[in-house]
Amino acid sequence: MCPEYLAIVFGSVFFIIVSRRIYVAFWGPLNDIPGPFWAKFTRLWEVYALIPGDFERKLIALHRFYGPIVRIGPNKCSIDDPDAVKIIYGLGKPFVKTSYYSAFTDVDKTSLFSEREPSIHAGMRRRIAKLYSLTNLLSYEAFVDQCTATLEDKFRKFCIEQRPIEMGAFLQYYAFDVIGSITAGHPFGLMEKEGDDGIIGQIHRATLYSSFIGIVPDLHYWYQKVLDKLRPYGVNSSRAELLDFVNFHIGQRRRGITPNDKNDFLTKLLLLEKEGANTHADTQVSCRSNIAAGSDTTAISLGAILYHLIQNQGKMEKLRDEIDKKWAAGELSDPITFKQSQELPYLQAVIKEGLRMHPAIAVVLARCVPRGGAVICGKYLPENTEVGINAWVAHRNEKVFPESTAFRPERWLGPKTEISRMDSYFASFGFGSRTCIGRHISFLEISKLVPQLIRKHDFELEPPNMEWVVKSHVFAKQRFHCKIKQR
Ligand code: HEM
Repeated sequence: MCPEYLAIVFGSVFFIIVSRRIYVAFWGPLNDIPGPFWAKFTRLWEVYALIPGDFERKLIALHRFYGPIVRIGPNKCSIDDPDAVKIIYGLGKPFVKTSYYSAFTDVDKTSLFSEREPSIHAGMRRRIAKLYSLTNLLSYEAFVDQCTATLEDKFRKFCIEQRPIEMGAFLQYYAFDVIGSITAGHPFGLMEKEGDDGIIGQIHRATLYSSFIGIVPDLHYWYQKVLDKLRPYGVNSSRAELLDFVNFHIGQRRRGITPNDKNDFLTKLLLLEKEGANTHADTQVSCRSNIAAGSDTTAISLGAILYHLIQNQGKMEKLRDEIDKKWAAGELSDPITFKQSQELPYLQAVIKEGLRMHPAIAVVLARCVPRGGAVICGKYLPENTEVGINAWVAHRNEKVFPESTAFRPERWLGPKTEISRMDSYFASFGFGSRTCIGRHISFLEISKLVPQLIRKHDFELEPPNMEWVVKSHVFAKQRFHCKIKQR
């Protein structure tokens, strides 16, 4: 083909694409929804906005400026309206997860987190739900206690050495060790090593990839194709490395190399397989989901609670007073049990407030408007529009959470009607049928570790009053250094 024809073909394609985008931006069904200028034209606005790692803070500012509904892509809206929770995540017509989530697993695979088809997801969730139930929770308590003992040994050492530590990272080692123990019967050994042996880095790279490619999921397929071609040369995705890791532990257990005498997830999953209630794939999915979804999230929440307590010494003293009184009355053991932690109302309020101030997941929990469209924030949105609520935005809604930027655990100890109003817009664990299946496990870890830390240690930011650094892509990770003193 001669160059003139080529130029005409390319020019025409370019012209069609650009005209279509201009049409969608100004005359499409979302044309009257306010938002950043470039977001009307291209998803690349969101990709670009994500790069610095402060997207959730940008989104809060955008909602303050534009109101409860903001167009953040040619076909995507972020919502800040408590009445929209029931519409988007409620039991009515299902708003399925968007293709954003497909970037969280390989093209031909699925997971509880990424599965988009409601009936397949419901089956997967039903088969493993009881492992995450409140009744099963206590069987995991001993694993938490073992890891807490390791953490306390390390903290004693740091006190003696007067060595400040990067608390965000150390809590990550703790949370990964706990999830490793609960899932496969033994910790990853990260606290012992005081460092990552690769698993944290793998999950970090995999979520970084998903956070960007999820916005342009059409690229996911092609990226995977290229990787498949490169695999014989030793190139592997971070997700595949995590899968190898999980398969290794499952294989060890199946072959009897590691004992099956513990009350961990793997034991329970293999039992369910034996009874025919579960498949090989369910075992793999469940183990992988625990590690990928349950470690960073819990570490971030622990870090948030500790940091806000350090920054609000009055609240720290109030919590310590509650714990010390119970300890003096002989009503707490060492380590504290989950049951005892439930008898500490101020502790529970502190935990809830920490989770509100700093939700671990920083992205919009995006869903597709179903057939027939929907009216949200008074606007009609046609079928397939992507909509969702971001927990950070929800938790800074002044009408639901007055003085939303202040760490005020007392708000969770007010009248019942107020608490249930806040609860219905409490988004840290998501909403509806896709709500976090592991939330009881994270409450187990957090409720046991926080009082233990506060009773035995004093914490100081290092350098004093230095604010933390938060960088978020999927997870809103913090970094802050602390000096620890034994009380
Ligand atoms: C404080 C800690 C945690 C936070 C803040 C958190 C947050 C969330 C959120 C917001 C979702 C919903 C995502 C969406 O709708 O797109 C979710 C789902 C999920 N979480 Fe968690 N999570 C935590 C701990 C855990 C733990 C400990 C586990 C496992 C042991 C876990 C496993 C999962 C799984 C498997 C899903 C997908 C559930 C489904 O779609 O049915 N999470 N989590």
